[in-house]
Amino acid sequence: TSNQMWGGRFAAGPDAIMEAINASIGFDKRMAAQDIAGSRAHAAMLAATGIVSDSDASAMREGLLTVLSEIEGGKFQFSTALEDIHMNVEARLKDIIGEPAGRLHTGRSRNDQVATDFKLWVRDQLDAVDGALQALMRALLVQAEAGADWVMPGFTHLQVAQPVTWGHHMMAYVEMFARDLSRIRDARRRMNECPLGAAALAGTSFPIDRDMTANALGFDRPAANSLDAVSDRDFALEFLAAASICAMHLSRMAEELVIWSSAQFRFVALSDRFSTGSSIMPQKKNPDAAELIRAKIGRIFGANVALMTVMKGLPMAYSKDMQEDKEQVFDAADNIMLALAAMEGMVRDMSANVENLEAAAGSGFSTATDLADWLVRVLDMPFREAHHVTGSLVAMAEKKGCDLPDLSLEDMQSVHKNIREDVFDVLGVHNSVASRVSYGGTAPARVRAQITRWKEILA
Ligand code: ARG
Repeated sequence: TSNQMWGGRFAAGPDAIMEAINASIGFDKRMAAQDIAGSRAHAAMLAATGIVSDSDASAMREGLLTVLSEIEGGKFQFSTALEDIHMNVEARLKDIIGEPAGRLHTGRSRNDQVATDFKLWVRDQLDAVDGALQALMRALLVQAEAGADWVMPGFTHLQVAQPVTWGHHMMAYVEMFARDLSRIRDARRRMNECPLGAAALAGTSFPIDRDMTANALGFDRPAANSLDAVSDRDFALEFLAAASICAMHLSRMAEELVIWSSAQFRFVALSDRFSTGSSIMPQKKNPDAAELIRAKIGRIFGANVALMTVMKGLPMAYSKDMQEDKEQVFDAADNIMLALAAMEGMVRDMSANVENLEAAAGSGFSTATDLADWLVRVLDMPFREAHHVTGSLVAMAEKKGCDLPDLSLEDMQSVHKNIREDVFDVLGVHNSVASRVSYGGTAPARVRAQITRWKEILA
């Protein structure tokens, strides 16, 4: 049987394989609400411009609401023969309202229709990710505030470097996720131009009002070039790129939680609600949520690369290749939302082991820099010399199998005779973090100021 949308030119229907490779209804039905919103805006505009009658437009708009409620109620019969969501909706509209349904597609094409639907869908996702990022940032702020004074080791090369505070570490993630949030908002602002009315590629001879449809659908303006409007998928790529960077941050954090919850570190206990056990080893509590966040990130990177690859060789304007945009974006959107929610839950529930953090903060000669700084400040030693003297003291402590504060004053003076008793003040981890008062530094007072600032921004 020939196609009800373009059967006029065709003598035979498609091969089963053609139908299988061609159909997108299996996934693009997720854009049903956007498709119907777009069609309702188009119908209203067709009537306002006198292209169709008011009564036809009302029938279309009413009928489209019926179709929407059928889909939302799970009563809609999706047909693969009807290829995609656009034709499924239109065909059903014809069943319901008859002849006026055939006038809906005046001055429009599936090319501008799909670009519009997909933009609306991606825009909703940007807003959802925006909300989820803010929720995660709030959870991090709660942790940061609780532990603004807790000391822990700061690492470089995953080797103990200098003491920092728990609050400072949590706030580092707040800064990362804040940049992710600003990328999401930036993408949303840039994408918000309406493709509808670009028609197939060249515009239309009907006296349509593109400002009206753009406005009705919450866009800032109609897209200015019809060729670009139907073949632009930058907005989806920007979503995937911003999601990829955010996913990378989530993965780094997940990796830290995996390390921190290990028996060797014991920096945090993850809650039972976000952990799993082992079917054989009774003692196990595994950080599966963190591991799955770390793993799912690969799908988001993959989606970004996949869609870049789909788009990179396409001449203007629309090519069917672009139909491959949706599954990638849907999968990435589902997984970034899941990863954000799981991370938020883990962060809310996790409890820091304050004693272990503090014990670890002082290990590994973490206050060696404080000692070198003391030599510079008090003895007016050039920093390079102070570095050398401190290095000798570290070597001495290492040989004795103790930490820097465990050396005696005599030990110290055997390396440099002018070292005095008050050097021991700077070897304590709390003094160390309290001394780092430079802007952006780990001193609790500095970190508290950042917490206050972010709480106000997110309020
Ligand atoms: N299902 C198609 C897509 O997702 C809709 C647009 C089809 N347009 C066309 N001229 N075949 O891209």
